[in-house]
Amino acid sequence: MKTAGQSFPALATALLVATSSALFAQTPTPAELRIHAGQVTAHVSPLLYGLMTEEINYSYDGGLYGELVRNRNFKEDAKYPVHWRMAADKGAAGTISLDSGNPLNDANTVSLKLTAEKAAANQTVGVANDGFWGIPVRPRTTYHASLWAKAAPGFTGPLNLAIVSNDGAIVHAKAQVPHLTTGWRKYEATLTTADAAVSAENRFVISMAAPGSVWLNLVSLFPPTYNNRPNGNRKDIMELLAGMKPAFLRFPGGNYLEGNTVATRFDWKKTIGDNSARPGHMDDSWRYWSSDGMGLLEFLEWCEDLHMEPVLGVYAGYSLRGGARFKPGAELEPYVKEALEEIEYAAGGAGTTWGARRAKDGHPTPFPLTYVEIGNEDNGDRETGSYEGRFAQFFDGIRAKYPQLKIIATTPVTTRAADVIDEHYYRRSEDEMAFHANDYDTRRRLGGPLVFVGEWATRVGDPTPTLGAALGDAAWLIGMERNSDLVIMASYAPLFVNVNPGGMQWQTDLIGYNTLTSYGSPSYYAQKMFSNYHGDEVLATSAQSVPSREWQPPAGRGGRGPAPATPQQTPMPQQAPLMFFDATRDSRTGVIYVKVVNRGNLAYPVHINVAGLSSIAPSGDAVVMQGDGPQDTNSITNPEKIKPVTVRVDGLSTNFTHTFAPFSVTVLQMKGK
Ligand code: AHR
Repeated sequence: MKTAGQSFPALATALLVATSSALFAQTPTPAELRIHAGQVTAHVSPLLYGLMTEEINYSYDGGLYGELVRNRNFKEDAKYPVHWRMAADKGAAGTISLDSGNPLNDANTVSLKLTAEKAAANQTVGVANDGFWGIPVRPRTTYHASLWAKAAPGFTGPLNLAIVSNDGAIVHAKAQVPHLTTGWRKYEATLTTADAAVSAENRFVISMAAPGSVWLNLVSLFPPTYNNRPNGNRKDIMELLAGMKPAFLRFPGGNYLEGNTVATRFDWKKTIGDNSARPGHMDDSWRYWSSDGMGLLEFLEWCEDLHMEPVLGVYAGYSLRGGARFKPGAELEPYVKEALEEIEYAAGGAGTTWGARRAKDGHPTPFPLTYVEIGNEDNGDRETGSYEGRFAQFFDGIRAKYPQLKIIATTPVTTRAADVIDEHYYRRSEDEMAFHANDYDTRRRLGGPLVFVGEWATRVGDPTPTLGAALGDAAWLIGMERNSDLVIMASYAPLFVNVNPGGMQWQTDLIGYNTLTSYGSPSYYAQKMFSNYHGDEVLATSAQSVPSREWQPPAGRGGRGPAPATPQQTPMPQQAPLMFFDATRDSRTGVIYVKVVNRGNLAYPVHINVAGLSSIAPSGDAVVMQGDGPQDTNSITNPEKIKPVTVRVDGLSTNFTHTFAPFSVTVLQMKGK
C-alpha cells in the first residue's frame, strides 16, 4: 500500500492545466507527457476489469438468459395468463384460464388450463406465447422445448408444439408430445427450422387436435446456448462479454439483491434446482417478474464460462422499502446463516450439506470464491449504526467459518476492518466524470480497505452511452488503472438493456439488444480496450500543457449521500481536463501501453518523452476509437458505427510527437529496451 506523498500522486497532482483558449487555436500547443520507465508506482490489479449485473432492463429474462417463453409459470399476473392467448383455427373452439386447483408443486401452484371444446386434426385449439418481444427464428436452428402437462381424463394427446409466424402463415418448426397422462409429467421435444428467414415476429404455440382439457406449467423453449449449457445463456451477448475479458462478476445486485421487501429479495434458495421448483419472484426494484431461471448456480456457471471470479453479494438484512431492516442479534441471525449456506453452496466441497446440494444440481466441483460483499449501498440505510451492526455480525460469522474470504463493505464501517469497500459513482455529464477522473490520485493510502468501484457510469445516452459519455468513462478508467494499487476492481453499471419499447428502467447501459441482435456502446469498446490492452506495472507519468474546459458543477448533491446541512450555493465553475494519460508496462514483454483520451474537438499533438529507456522500437500499434462528436453513438440499427481499429504507428522513439484525433481514445503500444 502506498502512502500519501509517494512519487505518483505527487506527479499526478503536478499536472498542469492549460487555458481553454488553446482549444480554439488552429495549431494547439502540444501537451507534454513524460513517462518515467524506471518508476513503477503500482501494479495493475489482475481483477481490475470486471462486470456488475442484476435483473434490470430485462437483463436476464428477455436478455442474457436463453429462455424464450415469457411468463412460463403463469405467475406474472394473478388474474390473467399475460403473454399467452388463445390460438384456435377457424371453426375450432376452446378456452384458456388460470387454474389453482391442480398445483404442479408447492413452488408452482397456478397452471394454465387449456380446453378444446371443438377440435380436430385440421382444426386445432391452442395457446400461444408471444415471448420477450417475439420469438427469434433463425435458419437451420434447433430449439429445445420442455413443459409440464397433466391431461383431464379422456384426453390422451397428442400436444402439438410449433414456432409460428405471428400472422399464422408460416410454421417455422414443429414437434409433438405424443401421449399425455392424467398425472403431472415433464415432456421434452426439439424443433428445428429449415431455411427460415431471420425474424422475431413469431410465437410459440401449443395446441390440441381433439376435444379435452390439459393443464400446463413451466413451459420452456430454448435456442442454442453459449457452450451448449442447458438452461444457459444467449450466445451473442456472451460473446460480447467474452470480448471484454472480464476478470470478475459482481452479482446478484444492486437493488435486485435487496428487493423492496425481504420477501422480494434475491432469495437464493428459491433460485436453485430444476426450474419447475423455482417459484420466481416480483423484481419490485425494477418492476417486473423474474423467473429466477438465472439462479445462483447459473450465475456461477456464467463465471465459469467466461473465466470470471465470482463476487458474491449476500443479502444483509436490509431491503429498500417496507421497513425490512433486521436488528443485529437474534433477529439478523437467520440471514447470516443464509449467507453462510450460500457460500457453502458456491464453494463448499461436495461433502458439505450445501456443496452436496450443488453437486445434485449438476456441479460437483466447488467454484473458486474469494470475495463476498455484505449487502448493497447500505449508505441508504439511514438508521444510525444499523449497517455497522449488521456488517459486524456478517463479518464475524463469515470470518469464523471462512477465514480466507475477503469481505467487502458497501459503505464505511469502523468496528470491523473490511478488506474492501465498494464505492459507486454515477456522473451526470462527461465533464463531471472527467472532473473527478483523477480523484484517486490524491486518495490517502493509510492501510484502510482497498477499493472496489462496483458501479460507475457517465449517464449520458439513452439507452446506451454516447461517445461523449465513453470519453468521460475512459478518463475515469485511466484514473482507476493508474491507481490500481488502491482500486483493485471496477465494474460499470448497469451492464445490459433490452432496447425494445418498455425494456429499459434505467437509462445509459453498456450493452443493448433486442430479440435478435446485440451491440456494444462506445463505452463498451472503451472498456474492452482497457481490459485487453494493459501491462501489469503502472509507470509514473507527468503531464504539462493539458487542455481543459470550464465546467459548471450542478447545484445540489448528486447521487446518494448525506444531504448538506445548509442550502448549497451555486458552485463556482471549475476546469475539467480534456486530455488524460496513463502508462503501464508488461513486465514480461516490455511492451508499454500508453493510454490517451482526447475529449476535445481538435486533433491534439502530444510530445511524449520516455525517461529511463535507451530506445523504443520505431514502429508499434495503436488501437484507436474515435467519432465525429460527443453525440455520436452506436445503436441496434447501427451497432458498430464507433469501434476501435488497430493502426500501425511509425516514428516512435524515446522522444516523439504524436497527434491524437479529436474525440478519441488511443492505446499506443511501444516496445522499449
Ligand atoms: O445500477 C442501478 C442501481 O444503481 C443499482 O441497482 C443500485 O445499486 C444503484 O443505486
